[in-house]
Amino acid sequence: MTDTKDDVVREVVEELASPTTIGVEAYVSEAYARAERDKLWRKVWQQVGRVEEIPEVGSYLTYDILDDSIVVVRTGPEEFAAHHNVCMHRGRRLVDVPSGAKNACDRTRKAFVCGFHGWTYGLDGACTHVRERDDWQGALTPENTHLAPVHVDVWGGWLFVNLDDDPEPLADYLFPAAKILDPFGLENMRFKWRKWLNFDCNWKVALEAFNETYHVFTTHPEFNRFGEFKGWAKAQGKHSNIGYDAPKGLDETKSKIRLGSGDPRISTAEMQVYTMEETNATTTQTLVNAAKRLVDELPEGTPANKVLEHWLTSARNDDAARGVVWPTIPADILGQSGTAWQLFPNFQIGQGLTSALCYSARPDPSYDPNKCIFEVAVFELYPKGEEPATEWVYTPVGDPNWFSVLPQDFSNMAAVQQGMKSLGFPGTMPNPYRERSTVNLHYQLSKYMGVGAPRDLNEGE
Ligand code: FES
Ligand SMILES: [Fe+2]
Repeated sequence: MTDTKDDVVREVVEELASPTTIGVEAYVSEAYARAERDKLWRKVWQQVGRVEEIPEVGSYLTYDILDDSIVVVRTGPEEFAAHHNVCMHRGRRLVDVPSGAKNACDRTRKAFVCGFHGWTYGLDGACTHVRERDDWQGALTPENTHLAPVHVDVWGGWLFVNLDDDPEPLADYLFPAAKILDPFGLENMRFKWRKWLNFDCNWKVALEAFNETYHVFTTHPEFNRFGEFKGWAKAQGKHSNIGYDAPKGLDETKSKIRLGSGDPRISTAEMQVYTMEETNATTTQTLVNAAKRLVDELPEGTPANKVLEHWLTSARNDDAARGVVWPTIPADILGQSGTAWQLFPNFQIGQGLTSALCYSARPDPSYDPNKCIFEVAVFELYPKGEEPATEWVYTPVGDPNWFSVLPQDFSNMAAVQQGMKSLGFPGTMPNPYRERSTVNLHYQLSKYMGVGAPRDLNEGE
């Protein structure tokens, strides 16, 4: 037996970290929530939308984070600029935006004209017109009238902004997440649907409902009938990822896809149908249809790894026939990739071969630590020209369009937030193996915030 890269990965992820506790300040303190503006949100790279949302030169979208609003505009075929969304004359917000939503504007612009006194800015942010400019006696310069610039860059088809004057390059910031996710070709996927809502919890509570597999057994009991799924979590620099252990008899590279127990032909089909009907995410109709055919195409007693191989091959062929080409992902990368990545601080990508389920959470502009804005977006690989037209749809808790699985997650959020404020709750005790993404999030946050690092569980204050 050779010691493959996969074995090495497995050893690392199976190693137990020491148990820690995380204080509640980061979740419930208003002072902490206020401090996040300067120490965190004005320092980090934030995902603000997709490249394809602003397809033409002059297309733009806006992104609001606490007191800051950013305009991201396409300035060339592959060029983007980002500006603080504020007129340099008397500080009027330049482009009015609906609160919470971040839909791209449905029309392109050649310039941005302020609605108050008409100062006008080019797509590049340069001020091109001031009414009665001479009254300033020459004191208005290209520099002091230019919209304040914001760093913008692209990865995986997403636009990222950074409000810091001199941020580290996005490519460095995303290491090693981008390296492992690049082969998935996320930039080729397009929105299948996207919904946003408000939660009565801190943005970290919302994200932490999705960054571990430990809750699945209890919060989503329906999945237990498909088999028991043990998950792992790994710190990856600023970021982290999670995945499922390989079912017995399958190598790590196949463990991305949960196969279930019992007759694998039947459990695969049942789980695919359930997942599609109750989440409309993390699978595709092609995979569902191919799974449903397994019982006809394979004899009883076919071992699980053969079922998986057959299922994926026939789905891949079905997709190829309709012009959807699956990415080719090296086996060692597939093994390391897991099922989802948490990009620091507030973006999660659940990457599949032909689809992705993504979450982001932002603080509420009121600075109330008990509230956040949450976004769920599902992406898929489509045949060219068959991408659905979508926009962000406000879909509150309780709306039937969430189906049944996500509401199970939603049901914990306000209850966790409330519980964390209890006199009887000293701090969380995350699972040192399966909830490592949360531990790493708070460790990384503490480097920005100066407080809140996870402490050894047995050492006390
Ligand atoms: S505030 Fe924009 S033109 Fe006066
Ligand atoms: Fe969940």
